[in-house]
Amino acid sequence: MSVRSGTIDVDRARAETRGCESIVHLNHAGSSLMPIPVADALIGWQREEEFRGGYETADRHQGKLENFYDATARLLNCHRDEVAFIENATRAWDMAFYALDLGPGDRILTTESEYGSNMIAYLHRARRTGCEVAIVPNDVFGQIDVEALERMIDARVKLISISHVPTGGGLVNPAAAVGAVARRHGVPYLLDACQSVGQIPLDVQAIGCDFLSATGRKYLRGPRGTGFLYVRGDWIGRLDPPLLDQHAAELINEREYVMRADARRFENWECHFAGKAALGVAIDYALGWGLEEIRDRVQPLAQDLRDRLAAIDGVEVLDEGAEKCGIVTFRKAGEDPEAIKRRLKARGIHVSVSGDSGARVGYDRRGIATAVRASVHYISLEREIDDLAATIRG
Ligand SMILES: Cc1ncc(COP(=O)(O)O)c(C=O)c1O
Repeated sequence: MSVRSGTIDVDRARAETRGCESIVHLNHAGSSLMPIPVADALIGWQREEEFRGGYETADRHQGKLENFYDATARLLNCHRDEVAFIENATRAWDMAFYALDLGPGDRILTTESEYGSNMIAYLHRARRTGCEVAIVPNDVFGQIDVEALERMIDARVKLISISHVPTGGGLVNPAAAVGAVARRHGVPYLLDACQSVGQIPLDVQAIGCDFLSATGRKYLRGPRGTGFLYVRGDWIGRLDPPLLDQHAAELINEREYVMRADARRFENWECHFAGKAALGVAIDYALGWGLEEIRDRVQPLAQDLRDRLAAIDGVEVLDEGAEKCGIVTFRKAGEDPEAIKRRLKARGIHVSVSGDSGARVGYDRRGIATAVRASVHYISLEREIDDLAATIRG
């Protein structure tokens, strides 16, 4: 029987994903399965480099590299000049964060569900510059309390910086409501969209963020070692990247250089060329299904999994948020999440465990040590969810 869900033809999507044949992959928030066009673009590029040479391959396929910028601009509703290709979400985020001018007493406002590397960077800069980080409390849904955020804004606040979807939970922070506050008060807004990109429509105009970072390998289903940064046009010229090379800037003479005028001033010259071309294909592929259609398939599927898990004795589903996404976190009384992960792996079911630095802030506040994280995508099947729930039931 053919599986159709809204406008997503799940059978076709799975037929275009070789990995679906052999595994039950419920780890899309870790690293998804590349669809055939993406894997073929990646491997084909590398094969060509083997025979033709890296520079010659890049010269021959400039259009495929340039397509990355056009595809990302379509994905985010921005201009291609506002996009930089960067090797992962963390470095993309860093390039914006460390370019912002922060001094003693300046404040960064973030969330309880903030990503660990971002927290480390706040603390790192606080130590170096004397700036401060303050955590905005959650509302009753467990997401950032937007009214509390607004109350915390004063002249010291120089940045609002949040994760759209945390690494260790299914909640979707109200990014556009946060953007409205940032706009009203003229505070720069950095959005970590690493876990939301590819599973939720992202429109930087509607969200109102000034900077957005994302990765390729998760819900976008691109290759590992790929990511990007969006920088709003009017910010590009005002930001001094923490690192510059001769791609980001041009050396004029022994005393002078000029930086690029577009967001590529945040890029490296040497990069994962095959990955960049393949990420463009992955973004086009996601757009081909439609981000609203993807969200409308993923969210009910994840909720179905939550409901099944919650019905099992001893299982506690941990996801918070008024809006939830494809990430499902849970724990089971008497069984360590790592042991659950191993038990699932033995049955060919892939999940991950959250609870290291990535989710530290939120988990500590909630008294959670670690949790199993199962993450569904539009290629996931109801029967895979059944398998997972049956294995957890034991
Ligand atoms: C919310 C969030 N931000 C950032 C990252 C870092 O992404 P990357 O590993 O591509 O640097 C992750 C990774 O899991 C994440 O979950």
